[in-house]
Amino acid sequence: MYKPLEIAKDIFYVGVNDRTKHLFENLWPLPYGVSYNAYLIADEKTALIDTVDGCYSDVFFHKITSVLGDKPIDYLIVNHMEPDHSGSIAWLVSKYPEIRIVGNKRTVDMLKGFYGITDNVVLIQDMDTLCLGNCTLQFYLTPMVHWPETMMTYVPERKTLFSADAFGTFGTLDGGVLDTQITPEKYRSEMIRYYANIVGKFGSPVQTALKKLSGIKIDVVCSTHGPVWTQKTHIAEVVNLYDQLSRYEADPGLVIVYGSMYGHTEQLAEIIASSAAEQGLRKIVMHNVSKSHASDVLRDVFAYKGLLIGSPTYNNKLYPAVESLLSALQSRYVKNRFFGCFGSFTWSDASAKQLAAFAEASEFEMIGEPVVMKQAMLSEVTEKARNLGQCIAHKILSGAEVVPNNTANCH
Ligand code: FEO
Repeated sequence: MYKPLEIAKDIFYVGVNDRTKHLFENLWPLPYGVSYNAYLIADEKTALIDTVDGCYSDVFFHKITSVLGDKPIDYLIVNHMEPDHSGSIAWLVSKYPEIRIVGNKRTVDMLKGFYGITDNVVLIQDMDTLCLGNCTLQFYLTPMVHWPETMMTYVPERKTLFSADAFGTFGTLDGGVLDTQITPEKYRSEMIRYYANIVGKFGSPVQTALKKLSGIKIDVVCSTHGPVWTQKTHIAEVVNLYDQLSRYEADPGLVIVYGSMYGHTEQLAEIIASSAAEQGLRKIVMHNVSKSHASDVLRDVFAYKGLLIGSPTYNNKLYPAVESLLSALQSRYVKNRFFGCFGSFTWSDASAKQLAAFAEASEFEMIGEPVVMKQAMLSEVTEKARNLGQCIAHKILSGAEVVPNNTANCH
């Protein structure tokens, strides 16, 4: 039924598309779906690299048999145990009872815990190899990219890297699987959203993994989500993007995020944005936290160097959706940003102080004083808001590096 898709000599794509789920991890919207990628190496010995979400076991099986027919699978390499990739393992073992499951110490623990599997398990260490015939599998342990057991598998004879979640993206594979068969640009925004939301907390482990992989020659990148990258320029782009994002570096642009009950904080956001635009800053993205999904806000915060957050005082605290955003940013250790804040209150000014404390804890470079409106807009508040927009635009356009906790700006 399926035509085998050979992505490198003896290496086949056997992944699936999910256009059904609304939410990845039951949290993150999937407007363009997601693919769960798995790969099959049909050498003298056969090896499957990862499985797919359990909902797609049947399609997965048909793709495997389109390559192997009745031949058995000798090895299952488990690069990552999150159930979007391990969900078909128990089912696979029922179909191929002799299959040997390859993983590291953390994998073995999870195989037992999730699926009660303890038999036919092959324990490997970092940098161990496994020969399949013409191809060798070399295992690189890359803990916390995205879970502690995560590893990558490299085939030196094909210069092919099976990278688990690294270099992955949301978005299904609509016909084409290889980067040569698609329009790669359409995945960029979803790749940043995927990174920011799923991997964003693990910048330091991603950097460690990139350094570990830096010595190997890679001609093909096979992630567990999204296209297979085969073109030098595309591989460089996705590796550079992951490198940039994991160092919390960002493009010159500004994200203005605000909560607003009755439009007062929103007025400040509008004034600040138009003032920044007047300075020539073209990349400005605004999010009303009550409407934008947090995953889109996180994507843009990871993408751009400037961040302004506005909140009314609510129950003597931050507006709840703003508070939730700050928690998401802190849990991802977001740093290296030019930051400003603004807000409104009626009888007690609490939000601006809490936003300033957040900036200090995050070691952002503070731009200007918090701009605060009591009850309604006054001309001096308008002036302060315009000044904040001007200052942060200048800072972003200057190309200056962020100075952590610097506050000597635009007073
Ligand atoms: Fe695609 Fe961390 O699972």
